[in-house]
Amino acid sequence: TPGKLPAIPGDILVYADGDKAGQPIQDADLGIKATRAWPQGKDKDGKPLVKSEEPNNLLLVFKFAESDLKAPTDLKGVVDGVVAYSAICQHLGCQVGDNNEVPGTLLCPCHSGAYDPKQGCKVIGGPPPRPLPQLPIKQEGGQYIAAGPLEFAYFGTTDTDFEKLVK
Ligand code: FES
Repeated sequence: TPGKLPAIPGDILVYADGDKAGQPIQDADLGIKATRAWPQGKDKDGKPLVKSEEPNNLLLVFKFAESDLKAPTDLKGVVDGVVAYSAICQHLGCQVGDNNEVPGTLLCPCHSGAYDPKQGCKVIGGPPPRPLPQLPIKQEGGQYIAAGPLEFAYFGTTDTDFEKLVK
């Protein structure tokens, strides 16, 4: 069904949670904590359709200082420091969320996979074999819109201070 299709260029990013669920995400709400979002496309009649029937479509959106964003982030898919990734762990598919111990990073609740959204969501701890894919975005009329499909930045895991991330 169309509600299960993955994000495609032109989809609008809408809030997944809270009072504003289903409304386009707004710059003022974004920060280094993840904002959960769904892609919204169109159904066969051209009506807006939030693609929330497929849990793997869940996205995480951040706003960082542009100077904090580093490779392998696809900077062409970033708008004013706003960057979007898949929320689905590349280990075994759990939903990742903020790592409150290390603000601005992500932690998977299942096996402590850790990712850095400032560096293309490369793996900074735990078992995931590859980064979270980035969704390139653009901004039009105050809305954030997918500018391409999800992109995998194949980038090996690194030995980092995982101990500091997960206690
Ligand atoms: Fe995320 Fe295993 S599913 S670390």
